Amino acid sequence: MNIILLGPPGAGKGTQAQALMATRGMQQLSTGDMLRAAVKAGTPVGLQAKAVMEAGELVSDAIVSALIGERLDQGVGGGAIFDGYPRTAAQAMALDELLDARGMTLDHVIELEVDEAALIERVEGRYTCATCGEGYHDRFKLPAVAGVCDVCGGTEFKRRPDDNAATVQTRMAEYRAKTAPILPIYEARGLVQRVNGMADIDHVTQAIATILDGEA
Ligand code: AP5
Ligand code: MG
Ligand code: ZN
Repeated sequence: MNIILLGPPGAGKGTQAQALMATRGMQQLSTGDMLRAAVKAGTPVGLQAKAVMEAGELVSDAIVSALIGERLDQGVGGGAIFDGYPRTAAQAMALDELLDARGMTLDHVIELEVDEAALIERVEGRYTCATCGEGYHDRFKLPAVAGVCDVCGGTEFKRRPDDNAATVQTRMAEYRAKTAPILPIYEARGLVQRVNGMADIDHVTQAIATILDGEA
């Protein structure tokens, strides 16, 4: 099963993709994570993407679609969870071609419906384990023992450079202008289902499970 998680910054795409990986053996394909890894490694893609990401704007369609193609070629076991991709009409077309070429299809497009004003707090409070990447939040998801990662026991945490109020506004505007308009493409194919992304993390996970199990 291959799915797209769609929603603005802070909607919970990454959080829910991680939950699906843990429970269903699916693979998260996050272009944001791939780009951050490229920036960290200082690859040519990373050098091109760094300033664009720090400004909260979109990296070129060609770069992100190439990253997805390379990742698909490595195999996606229990199915792909596209997180943060596609983000433009051109990327949606590219994804169709990438999937077609590999004999894959899309099963669901899940839109996380959220209140944008509340997302600023989510994004500003977010941090991750520097060792294993597990996600946390200053208010909504604290480690069981303060300062220690639940998953790996690591004690180093980090925050994203684009998680500040000004950049988040640009990221939201990009979502409204370029990403939300791709929903009708998938609506026309009967693939879109909506989930209340303002519910608790576990409730959102449950609502997505209901869709994937064909009960919604
Ligand atoms: P990307 O990394 O994709 O960032 P984003 O879309 O802005 O989304 P986020 O990762 O901020 O949010 P999320 O929905 O994953 O939320 P999360 O689960 O972490 O992209 C970054 C940049 O890379 C872009 O701006 C662009 O420059 C570039 N880029 C990436 N892909 C691209 C593409 N395809 N094309 C062009 N450019 C691209 O949750 C947020 C926080 O809230 C966490 O702390 C979490 O614990 C908490 N939380 C989650 N769910 C809940 C809940 N239900 N209740 C309470 N708290 C919650
Ligand atoms: Mg994310
Ligand atoms: Zn960890």
